[in-house]
Amino acid sequence: MRIAVVGTGYVGLVSGTCFAELGHDVVCVDKDRAKIALLAGGDIPIHEPGLRELVARNAEAGRLGFTTDLGAAVERAEAVILAVGTPSLPNGEADLTHLEGAVREIASAMNAYKLIMTKSTVPVGTNARLRALLASLTDRPFDIVSVPEFLREGSAVKDTFHPDRIVVGADREEAGAAAAALHRPLTDRIFVTDVRSAEMIKYASNAFLATKISFINEIANICEKVGADVGQVAAGMGLDNRIGSSFLKAGIGYGGSCFPKDTRALIQIAGNVDYEFKLLKSVVDVNRDQRFSVVRKLRRLYGDLAGRTIAVWGLAFKPNTDDVRESPAVDIVAALLDLGAHVRACDPIALPNFRSCHDHERIAWCGDALEAAQGADAVCLLTEWPEFAAVDLGRLRQAMRQPVLIDGRNQFDAERLEGAGFAYSSIGRPA
Ligand code: UGA
Repeated sequence: MRIAVVGTGYVGLVSGTCFAELGHDVVCVDKDRAKIALLAGGDIPIHEPGLRELVARNAEAGRLGFTTDLGAAVERAEAVILAVGTPSLPNGEADLTHLEGAVREIASAMNAYKLIMTKSTVPVGTNARLRALLASLTDRPFDIVSVPEFLREGSAVKDTFHPDRIVVGADREEAGAAAAALHRPLTDRIFVTDVRSAEMIKYASNAFLATKISFINEIANICEKVGADVGQVAAGMGLDNRIGSSFLKAGIGYGGSCFPKDTRALIQIAGNVDYEFKLLKSVVDVNRDQRFSVVRKLRRLYGDLAGRTIAVWGLAFKPNTDDVRESPAVDIVAALLDLGAHVRACDPIALPNFRSCHDHERIAWCGDALEAAQGADAVCLLTEWPEFAAVDLGRLRQAMRQPVLIDGRNQFDAERLEGAGFAYSSIGRPA
């Protein structure tokens, strides 16, 4: 099939490359000339394990191209994937400007029937609106189906080729069947439903996963007070198939470009129909507060943090990505600076991204964990990069002014750390 992917961000680039790998003829479109030039030159704008090789292989085979010319790409395509961004507006609602702009441009390029598949995360009712907009601009036939994307940053390639399920929302059976057929090589678990339900499945899934995280984080906070171990609690809970063991890792909460944005958007979607989503509001509040548990622990230990040197290990919102959007590290570093501390920060790959938006005269940018720990009164581990847990404790202790480690992701064994002479504190586990 000839496919045009409109929007070459995370979702667009990964799914476009995936369809090329499946043998389709794919052109990825983006307005950002610099990004398209980079991709056409064989480079990729994001850090994603395995993606570079996949892009190179398919580009070389002539199955994957990049362009800024939306019209030409859509004209030659039988199917169009909409994967443009839907960022948050100040009130939390999803901003659909880019999506509507893309549909207007598609309208001018409609020369025959097109199967349009929306992979962008959009509020319930958006695909119906897009359909009405496109119908008002063209007489050519088309279908718009909703195919929400569930891939995770850092494991996007694996998630795309081995999805738990594909959801297809279509209001016309043939269109649903065509979209399902396109995805069938990836999995047999294809759930076909109506468009509005598909749109809702995406938000409800992210909101539910965010709820699991805030739930276990509150359990962790209680564990700390009653002397239980949240790791043990989560493991014991997870053995119940009805609960499941995933997304029960306690820590400093979720960040990234999806959970924070989509939870806010769903609260707004509910609010727009006069429904107060109380549970999800609490999930968001708990998450916002949880990241400061690291700072509270430091203050309990030292009282005043002014003039203290704090090493920050990890700036990305999770490992295997250089993405720092809504990363807990952003707020934690800002709070440390507000309290007068000096910060020594490191991250295997996210440092340049973090530094470009959050530079400060009291932050020293360091090449690795030991360099960051030099002369520090405490280390705060904020992202669970494997290299942090593998650090040589003897050298770490020597490097630090005070052997204090606050582990925001429960990466170390308390006994081992204490045995090595550290004052150690983690989330929801006995000190
Ligand atoms: C998330 C969903 O997992 C994807 O299914 C979805 O497609 C994507 O959002 C999206 O809407 O585009 P992502 O944000 O890439 O994917 O990353 P996750 O691996 O889900 O992690 C999100 C955050 O939750 C991270 O900050 C992570 O540290 C945190 N987390 C995750 C926990 O604190 N505890 C856990 O047990 C799991």
